[in-house]
Amino acid sequence: MNDIVLKTIDLTKHYGGVQALEGANFEMRKGEHIAIMGDNGAGKSTFVRQITGVEQRTRGTVMFDGQEVNFSGPLEAREAGIEAVFQTLALADHLDVPDNLFLGREITKFNWLGPFRLLDYKAMREETIEGLNKTGVKIPNIRNTIERMSGGQRQCVAIARAATFKSKLTIMDEPTAALGVQETAQVENIIRTLKADGDPLILVSHNMRQVMDLVDRIIVFRRGRMVADLRTEETNGEDVVSYITGAKTGAQFEGAA
Ligand SMILES: Nc1ncnc2c1ncn2[C@@H]1O[C@H](COP(=O)(O)OP(=O)(O)OP(=O)(O)O)[C@@H](O)[C@H]1O
Ligand SMILES: [Mg+2]
Repeated sequence: MNDIVLKTIDLTKHYGGVQALEGANFEMRKGEHIAIMGDNGAGKSTFVRQITGVEQRTRGTVMFDGQEVNFSGPLEAREAGIEAVFQTLALADHLDVPDNLFLGREITKFNWLGPFRLLDYKAMREETIEGLNKTGVKIPNIRNTIERMSGGQRQCVAIARAATFKSKLTIMDEPTAALGVQETAQVENIIRTLKADGDPLILVSHNMRQVMDLVDRIIVFRRGRMVADLRTEETNGEDVVSYITGAKTGAQFEGAA
């Protein structure tokens, strides 16, 4: 039980009459990399939002790092050790890149002149550039505010933030959907580094090649329900697609679709 990093029991979210997520029982071990796949509207982002407290769930339990949690929002989830890159990005539009990376965990330095610590802007800028370099994205001026950046640049800022800070769990919701070929390859390298370091990851992705290359296990969502839980080495793209489309249903999930 101790090596379970995240577990959800009957996690459910309804939006009015829409059953966006229904009874998700999910379990992941430390060091595991899991992909979540499924058609548009299958409930993948809803699942991520319930775990990170972006919204309040309809019912169900979330256990993280051995404790039951009910985060009031993504900042609280982050403080507890969950670093998430959301599909609709949670960046502060009016702040520049270093301010976004270090929001809530600013680097300070000793102030020789008085009792208060000073923000160490130079250290934050240097770490920001290092983080962005990992994603390979070119951002002409990191002092520009987020609102002046392209979708891909914004996505890389969010990924750089996730890659800069050591967390207990990283969640990426379609991290490479807006990225070019080179940037995608770099982000996949960030993911491989997480794996090599033993850091667990939930990757929401529509990219079959990427999923097959990177993760240990694939969870398929269909119409709000978890319909398959497959070991990557024991499955193939065709098999996964048949669960996504509903042509096939897993024995352990019989009747779920
Ligand atoms: N705030 C909301 N209010 C009402 N319905 C919502 C809301 N957010 C999502 N939904 C609905 O919940 C369902 C699941 O949406 P969700 O965003 O989780 O899908 P997804 O699997 O992430 O899809 P995609 O691959 O397109 O990102 C959809 O039917 C969607 O229309
Ligand atoms: Mg989504």
